[in-house]
Amino acid sequence: MAAMGEVTLVTGGAGYVGSHIVTELARSGRLPVVLDNFANSSSNVLPRLRKITGQAVPCVEGDVRDRAAVSRALADYGVQSVVHCAGLKAVAEGETQPLRYYDDNVGGAIALAEAMAKTGVKTLVFSSSAAVYGQPASNPVTEDAQLKPVNVYGRTKRDVEHVFRGIVERDATWRVALLRYFNPAGAHRSGEIGEAPAGMPNNLVPILAMAARGQRDGVDVYGDDWPTTDGTGVRDYIHVMDLAEGHVAALAHLAQAAGVSTLNLGSGRGYSVLEVIAAFERACGCRIARRVTHRRQGDVAMCFADPRRANSTLDWRAQRDLDAICVDAWRWATNPANA
Ligand code: WQD
Repeated sequence: MAAMGEVTLVTGGAGYVGSHIVTELARSGRLPVVLDNFANSSSNVLPRLRKITGQAVPCVEGDVRDRAAVSRALADYGVQSVVHCAGLKAVAEGETQPLRYYDDNVGGAIALAEAMAKTGVKTLVFSSSAAVYGQPASNPVTEDAQLKPVNVYGRTKRDVEHVFRGIVERDATWRVALLRYFNPAGAHRSGEIGEAPAGMPNNLVPILAMAARGQRDGVDVYGDDWPTTDGTGVRDYIHVMDLAEGHVAALAHLAQAAGVSTLNLGSGRGYSVLEVIAAFERACGCRIARRVTHRRQGDVAMCFADPRRANSTLDWRAQRDLDAICVDAWRWATNPANA
């Protein structure tokens, strides 16, 4: 059972995944507090979170690498657990700015862990990624698969996992869940919050939404010569609300389980780029132009989850399918209040 009234700090809580987690934390009776530096998010999300949750969501503007600010936030709000989403996540950007990615993602995790240790907060859920696997030797991929990330972004996530494991090895009273997200997509069904990247989106679903709205002329398909059924890349798209529910379930699990829990959060189904385009066309009721281009650096052919460990450990499973993802992403993209 969720601890009623437990205060949970969500780093990156104004961001795409973090904001959806905030809504589910509130729904489960917890008191979410946001920490965000608004590097890739906006404070506009805060009144919307209030509207969705029916409660004021306190927000500390600050950087997770600022140990003093994080320690203060933990103490001031009486935080009991942390969901750590803050970080950089654009794969291509990581390749050109590796130090920035290590500093933000790995440096951020170390600073957060120090602030938590100092204030005695030892329950942590970390936003890891399927990017830690790189191209898995076989699919669906289990948590025991070798970690062979193929890009800087994935390496930073693997390194942060090591940092948190190291902490638990020295102090077994920590409770840590490493949640390996597959491909989060979709939006809250209210259409009030969704993915709103600062620059050009890098991920397939937001790009399709832009194309469907005529904000770009179609989508580039990054290769149709991959060893997959139709030659395009196959991924496990998980609705962001399913992902958010997984975090609440993980916190409930940590209340019973000390140590480290490593869990895939995916649907267990893989879809090709062409299948995602078709699903998005059904959702928006329009045709999306596509042209096949060269493969994107750092991409893999296929990656989808074996989610059985999360299914059994957390009593959680992804409930919303690819069509629901596209319908909700489209509702968010076309909400006039976002114009
Ligand atoms: C999906 C598929 C592309 C854009 C990354 C991270 C992952 C997660 C999500 C966090 C691939 C193809 C894409 C386009 C295309 N992390 N594609 N044309 O690269 O699987 O995962 O983002 O935020 O950890 O690694 O996601 O949405 O970029 O790509 O053909 O314009 O769509 O090649 O097969 P990816 P994506």
